[in-house]
Parts: sequence; C-alpha cells; structure tokens
Amino acid sequence: MSEAVIQEPKNPHLQGNNAPVYEEVTITDMEVIGEIPSDISGNFLRVGPNPYYVPDPDRYHIFDGDGMIHGVHISGGTATYRNRFIDSAGLREERREGHWIYPGLNMFGDYLAKGEMPGTKNTGNTAMVFHNNQLFAMMEGGTPYRVSLPELETEGEHDFHGTLTHNFTAHPKVDVQSGEMMTFGYGISPPFLTYSVVGTDDRASHTTEISIPKPIMMHDCGITEHYTIFPDLPLVFDLEKMMAGGGLVDWDPGNGCRIGIVPRMGDDTSIRWFDIEESFLFHVANAWEEGDEIVFQACRSNRGGIVTAEGSDVREQLGQLHEWRFNLSTGEVASKALDGDYYCDFPRIHDDLVGRKNRFTYAARFRLGTMPTFDGEMKYDNETGEIQVHQFGDGCESGEAVFAPRRNAKAEDDGYVICFVYDRNSGNSECQILDAQRFEEEPVARIKIPQRVPHGFHAAWVADR
Ligand SMILES: [Fe+2]
Repeated sequence: MSEAVIQEPKNPHLQGNNAPVYEEVTITDMEVIGEIPSDISGNFLRVGPNPYYVPDPDRYHIFDGDGMIHGVHISGGTATYRNRFIDSAGLREERREGHWIYPGLNMFGDYLAKGEMPGTKNTGNTAMVFHNNQLFAMMEGGTPYRVSLPELETEGEHDFHGTLTHNFTAHPKVDVQSGEMMTFGYGISPPFLTYSVVGTDDRASHTTEISIPKPIMMHDCGITEHYTIFPDLPLVFDLEKMMAGGGLVDWDPGNGCRIGIVPRMGDDTSIRWFDIEESFLFHVANAWEEGDEIVFQACRSNRGGIVTAEGSDVREQLGQLHEWRFNLSTGEVASKALDGDYYCDFPRIHDDLVGRKNRFTYAARFRLGTMPTFDGEMKYDNETGEIQVHQFGDGCESGEAVFAPRRNAKAEDDGYVICFVYDRNSGNSECQILDAQRFEEEPVARIKIPQRVPHGFHAAWVADR
C-alpha cells in the first residue's frame, strides 16, 4: 500500500514566502544587527493577503486572502513585532463554521454562470491610511476597517458615521495641509466611478458620480493642492468572459487611455480628460501643480494586467517610473520616462508631501526573469535625476518600503526607509531600516523577526502621537 501523499499546492501565491502564517504573536525581545535609531518613534506596518481557509488551492487568487497586518513598533531604540488578522465579519463566520464560505475571485465565473451572485468578503488586505487620528486597513471592494495602534486590533468597519455610500479604494489620498482625504469607489455596474471627500469632521461629503464609459479596475488616484486625478485605463471587467472561464479583467486598449483631472470640489461637469498613449498604472507616486501644469508621476507599464505568473509578456506589465504633464490652459500632454532601466512599483514619498512637489520617490525594484518579486529598493531624485539602488543580498526579497522622517528633520530625505526583507536561503524575515541619505549603504538596523513575515501588499509609517 502506498502512503498518502500530501500535495503541496502548485499555486505560487501559496508557496515560499507567500504561504500564510496562522499564529498571532507579540515579540519584544529580538536580535538586532546594527542599532535601531532612537530618533524615530512610531509604527512600521505592512498588510497583505494571508488566507485562513483556501477553497481551491489551484484557483487561489493573490487578491483573495484574509488581511493580516505585520507591525513593528519602534520607540526609544527598541522594537516590538506584532501580527494580527483583520478580524472581518466574513473571517469570523468562516472560523465559526470551520470551513470556507466565501469563494475566491477565480471561482466567481462559476457562480455567475449559474445565475448566482458570489458572496464577497471584505478582507482589508490591501493597504492602510492614517486619517483623523485613525488607522484604516482597506481593500477596494469594501468599507475600511479601523485598527488600533500599536495593538493592531480590528475595531470594526468604519462608514464615516453613515455618510459613505460607495466602495472605498485602498488608495485614498490625504492632504495633510487641509486635513481632507480624497477617495473613490468603482463599480462593475453603474455608477462605474464615485468620488468623495472625507473632511476633518470624519464625514464623507461631496459624493459625486464621475462618468466613465466602462467598468474598470481603477486602483489608485492622485491629488494636488486643488485637483483630484483619476486614471481611466482599460483594464475592463467583462462578466460574460468571466462566466466563460476567462479572467477577472481584460486589457481592452480600444477603449482608450485617459486621465481625468477634477477640481477638488468639482464634478462631472468640471472634470477635464486628457488622452495619453497606451499605458497602464496600478500606483501613483505623486502629483502636484506647476503653473498651468499638473505634474503626474506613476509606475507606468505598456499594458494592463494582474501579473500572477511568469510569461514572455510579464515585462510589458511591469511598471517604470514615468511623468506626465497636463497643461490645463492649452490641453497639451507631455510624457516622459523617468527611468529606462529599472522596473519598479509600490512608489512612496514623504507622506507630508502628497499632492505637493516632492524631490524624492522610493519604490520597490522588480527582479526580472522569474516570477516577479522585489530584490531591491529605488530612490529617485526629481531635482538631479539621480537614481540610487539599494540591493539586498542574494536570495533576498523585499516589498513596499516607506519613509519615516527623523525627529526634527532638516531635509526631505532626513530619515529612514523601512521594509521587510525575506531571505529565501534561510527562510527568515527581517525588518530593515536604511538611512535615506545613505541609501546604498548597509542598513542601520536589521531586526530579526522570529516568525516568518509573508510577502504582502502595502506598507505605512504612522508616527507616535
Ligand atoms: Fe495598491
């Protein structure tokens, strides 16, 4: 008789450092190489998909997993690590029942073909934002979760006191000068795009529908001091194709590529649309105003798609830092690559400069030639054009890095760049802290996390108040 063989899932999103962890831990005593800086105090946070139950490993989609936040609280030169699930109603229900209830995205077509609507779980697995003294974890198909700091306990869905009437992007933008948060939601049925501004009163106001021709996956937006920017790029939802076993979205360049610029309190009558070359972008680096121009920087790819496997056209779908200038007076568009060599994504800047001109942009660098992972971090200088790379060691994989300003900082880059790094050779994870002004040098601190930190999506730095 042959022994039972436990099949390892072939799905790359469940293997290696994409495999989930289940234990929620709090650890204060960690080995550190170097010295944790004492001139920052706050939370480095990273959220990502960490599935508790997987209905069908072969059909698991990278967007499906339950949200888990990994946090490193840094204070007085010491660090505490915590990881916590986003305690969603859907996950609670599944844990109570002891099995999966909500299907993954790749199973949606089966339900639609039977005339059923698949149930969806608001996982909060994508990104976080800090607004009005509250930390939110979000996914673009649901309502934000409020999460406590530094404990990372889920406090519940937050609908802004009943004022939120639409899905909420994972990438709202906070103007730290006005205190407003600009957000939007997209729908696969009309309205395809709805825009809101959340004020310092923690209420969504100015909710207005923006007309776009087709239902698209719009993942991010930009803001300037006076405008909000929407990329209407043709990564289109096609339910009929989905029912026939196709993917979640289709790249449909015949639909056109355009960028909409609306005054912050404007609407469908005041939005201006600018056509651009065939392009896609998941993530905006920043935008600002210069005279009559809106400057818009993002990680641009030649075409849209959700890169989930190796393939000859992967490079077509990976981002490179790019700048467009839209002239509100003449209607002209100027487009230029800021980097012709490196592929990167997850761009971040000093959070206080979102919507204002920034000099430095940081981003995670793609390793090419294999299933896309990140093997370094980039630092771009808008003033000199200089490009710096922090390369991690052989077999090391990183992710989104965030900038944490030093207390009493004297320059835009006077502070630290922080990210998680996973070493495939040892299977160990670290939180690495780089000096942003000595970007290519050895990290100032490598905090060895005793539990593996799976790869995830977006990160945040929230300074202690
Ligand atoms: Fe994102």
